[in-house]
Amino acid sequence: MGGYSVVLGFAVVVILAWQASAQTCLKSFTDGNAIKSYASCNDLSTLNAALSWTYFPTNGSIDIAFRATPAASAGWVGWGINPTATAMVGTQALIAFKHSNGSTVVDTYNIVAQAPPSPSTISITVSNKSAVFQNTGQITIFATLMLLSNKTAVNHVWQVGSAVNGLVPQAHANNQANLASATTIDLKTGVSSGSAAVSQKTLKDRHGIINVVGWGILMPIGAMIARYLKMFKSADPAWFYLHAFCQSSGYIIGVAGWATGLKLGSDSPGVERTPHRRIGIALFCLGTLQVFALLLRPKKDHKYRKYWNVYHYATGYTVIILTIVNIFKGFDILQPADKWKHAYIAVIASLGGIAAVLEVTTWIIFFKRKSKTSPRTVSSAYGNGGTNAGHGFKQSHDDNSV
Ligand SMILES: *[C@@H]1O[C@H](CO)[C@@H](O)[C@H](O)[C@H]1NC(C)=O
Ligand SMILES: *[C@@H]1O[C@H](CO)[C@@H](O)[C@H](O)[C@H]1NC(C)=O
Ligand SMILES: *[C@@H]1O[C@H](CO)[C@@H](O)[C@H](O)[C@H]1NC(C)=O
Ligand SMILES: *[C@@H]1O[C@H](CO)[C@@H](O)[C@H](O)[C@H]1NC(C)=O
Repeated sequence: MGGYSVVLGFAVVVILAWQASAQTCLKSFTDGNAIKSYASCNDLSTLNAALSWTYFPTNGSIDIAFRATPAASAGWVGWGINPTATAMVGTQALIAFKHSNGSTVVDTYNIVAQAPPSPSTISITVSNKSAVFQNTGQITIFATLMLLSNKTAVNHVWQVGSAVNGLVPQAHANNQANLASATTIDLKTGVSSGSAAVSQKTLKDRHGIINVVGWGILMPIGAMIARYLKMFKSADPAWFYLHAFCQSSGYIIGVAGWATGLKLGSDSPGVERTPHRRIGIALFCLGTLQVFALLLRPKKDHKYRKYWNVYHYATGYTVIILTIVNIFKGFDILQPADKWKHAYIAVIASLGGIAAVLEVTTWIIFFKRKSKTSPRTVSSAYGNGGTNAGHGFKQSHDDNSV
């Protein structure tokens, strides 16, 4: 049980860190010269962007600071108000990027079509615009805008792209995150109808973390426990309980994560055809099959038990491989900060490294035992004696002895 508490503790730490990092919006910035402070800020629902602003009712103006990371270091970030629709075309935008001459430039762009725009005048009066490039790779746009007709409920649109040609930002990617980056926000109350979008961001973050912990971390650890602890007689039957505990808690957490995925899917039309969703549904079916198969497994000396074992291993490894593939597909959709992808790569690479070392150790121990004893009585790492050396899918003599 000690191992389980460690894993659970680790999961809680990761969840807390993830939740904390979700709070990316700031109310004060330095623009390179001075500190600028704002009354309100919102994490935007996609692209890891944030908007900070102050509304001045006396003259109907807003000061804004929009912060996002370009899709590539030579790329651009943009934010704007669309007086006509919650959509890209029509947006009166501010777009900033790092110019090839080294300065961070910001200009106004009237987005009249689905085509790369040139700098132009816009229908919203903008003053004191500037932009800074931070060492983190983020770009912050600062500006003062006069709201049209003092209307504080505005459609705002934001975007990031990967390339700029001269002063013309090139087309952005067409990922779900790039297509969903527009909401309505009330700049007066600070309570936006974007709050639905913000809570969707929270749901997406939860979907990501719950599935990564359940399917992507607990289940591979549980599989490693079964494969590598089993060979130690002293670890029997502890390995079995640990394995069952990791897999069943991974499954319970995983089903919760799967349910958040269904909710997100029903809120985002178009998602139902993505491979991520299809693999997710396949994983739920395979995982559920594993749980029920456990209840139906033949006794360890039953003649069909070895077929059951082959099925159990094959399904288990399929689940792990599909999970890792699907987590990376999920990263592509949600586009969390790179550090989360890197953190998961680090976890999975460490588990893979540990597994590789244990695999080699297992075989060394197996061959040592084999050379000391007669082949008929030796118990291999995977059971069934020396005659089955090299066959990783054979039934262990004490496999699932409980
Ligand atoms: C609007 O009014 C505020 C004070 O109420 C002032 O600080 C700000 O500079 C004004 N903005 C514009 C664009 O006039
Ligand atoms: C770089 O180019 C931009 C756009 O032409 C210009 O506004 C800016 O002043 C230039 N900066 C330097 C340091 O030359
Ligand atoms: C723009 O900035 C200058 C100097 O920082 C300031 O004097 C001026 O009032 C600002 N204008 C607006 C409209 O905020
Ligand atoms: C916005 O409201 C302020 C204060 O009520 C008023 O002075 C200003 O003229 C209004 N601006 C517009 C464009 O209606």
